[in-house]
Amino acid sequence: IKSEVGLFGLGVMGKSLALNMATKGIHVAVYNRHVEKVEVDIAKDFAGEHTGIFNFPWFDDLAAFVDNLSQPRNILLMVNAGKTVDIVIKGLIHFLEEGDLIIDGGNSHYKDTARREKELAKKGILFLGAGISGGEEGAKKGPSIMPGGTRMAYDRAGKYLEKIAARDSKGNPCCAFIGPQGSGHFVKMAHNGIEYGEMQLIAEFYHYFRFGYKFTPEKISAIFLDWNKEIQSYLLEISADILLKKEGEEFLIDKILDAAKQKGTGGWSTNSALELGVPLDTITAAVMARNISAIKEERKTAEKLYEKPSAETIQNQNFNDLFSAYKSASIINHAIGFSLLTAASKEYNWELNLSEIARIWTNGCIIRSAFMENLIKIFKDTPETNLLVHPQIVEQLKDYQKSHRQVAGEALGSGYPMPVLMAAQNYFLSYTSGQAAANMIQAQRDYFGAHTYERNDKPRGEFFHTDWKPDN
Ligand code: 6PG
Repeated sequence: IKSEVGLFGLGVMGKSLALNMATKGIHVAVYNRHVEKVEVDIAKDFAGEHTGIFNFPWFDDLAAFVDNLSQPRNILLMVNAGKTVDIVIKGLIHFLEEGDLIIDGGNSHYKDTARREKELAKKGILFLGAGISGGEEGAKKGPSIMPGGTRMAYDRAGKYLEKIAARDSKGNPCCAFIGPQGSGHFVKMAHNGIEYGEMQLIAEFYHYFRFGYKFTPEKISAIFLDWNKEIQSYLLEISADILLKKEGEEFLIDKILDAAKQKGTGGWSTNSALELGVPLDTITAAVMARNISAIKEERKTAEKLYEKPSAETIQNQNFNDLFSAYKSASIINHAIGFSLLTAASKEYNWELNLSEIARIWTNGCIIRSAFMENLIKIFKDTPETNLLVHPQIVEQLKDYQKSHRQVAGEALGSGYPMPVLMAAQNYFLSYTSGQAAANMIQAQRDYFGAHTYERNDKPRGEFFHTDWKPDN
């Protein structure tokens, strides 16, 4: 019999998704190019490892792979984002026919996805750009899936994607049609933006506790576990685990080089915020924190040139304040991430359903947490408004602000950077200030460049210019 789905690319995610599909009773054929130099046939080996349990027709020949698929064909690409996707599509389309469907399950850029969809549509080939979150384990047991493209493509692929997705608290799949064009990959990008913010925020508290408070990794782990009784965040949970991992007598965390890598999605979120003209403080701060971490040698040199404010251990701090500051920054980071979705939805007419997006992020994905569960209802009540003005969030954030500012101030005062914590507070203060500093910016622009300005005492849209040179 022919296979219902062809899985192209047996990296970690590809293998896990193939197993997930097979477990759900989907007939899946697997393809991986033959890797000459290492003398292995990845597809053959993978199929071999599972004989007796699952039957994976395996291929390293494109024509035979495509021929094994029932028509119209469904092919899921799990290859590296970027040029590879174009190369693979180019190779595949020779063998495909009108009505066949390609799903790109990688972290592709949403603009590439929109372009690919258009190009393939000319040939009558359907295309979905599906963000898939959850890492290896998520892919195997049930990831969160964010597919974007045409309805028609989703109508075909949805049944498979929904089968392999994680389940929300009501048992519904953490997979839903996101919208047209590259919207699925845009939503995955914003997910990763929030992910960068949350990861960095946790890392900042770890750093502050470890070096400012001189806590042992065990103690920090215990604090995170305690916080996580309320927060139920996957990222906080794995951070608590990480802190306990030992190598011999020593904690592994102490041996890991403090220079972060990244594959792009965080920075793309910032780029898209720049294009859309919207703020993205916490996410951008998290990307920049990775960038500055990467210049380790420069940091080491510069460290010797300045004294830290104080080498003493920080003692006098209330732990409730620290927890409140964490919660405040995390809520603000989510507000910022979702506001990027709102802005893109308006700009591109995607009609994104934020409540549904929050729902499919409640399980399977990296940023799942108890808060995400609340967001389903919050965005149902008030779609398209910034989280910061929702009454329930206002109530929560009001309580946390004093602590958030205090912790940020104390961290700075004692010489510890907390870029996301501080970016969150700056965003909060700016977003909730009726009076910004920008009247001065406008005056400066008008002074040196006659760029004109609007006035408080005149209707918006009327522009004024002043001859600013002091009269002598
Ligand atoms: C997920 C992750 C996943 C991947 C990131 C890591 O949702 O499952 O986001 O997609 O781990 O791409 O990104 P960086 O390498 O940029 O940290």
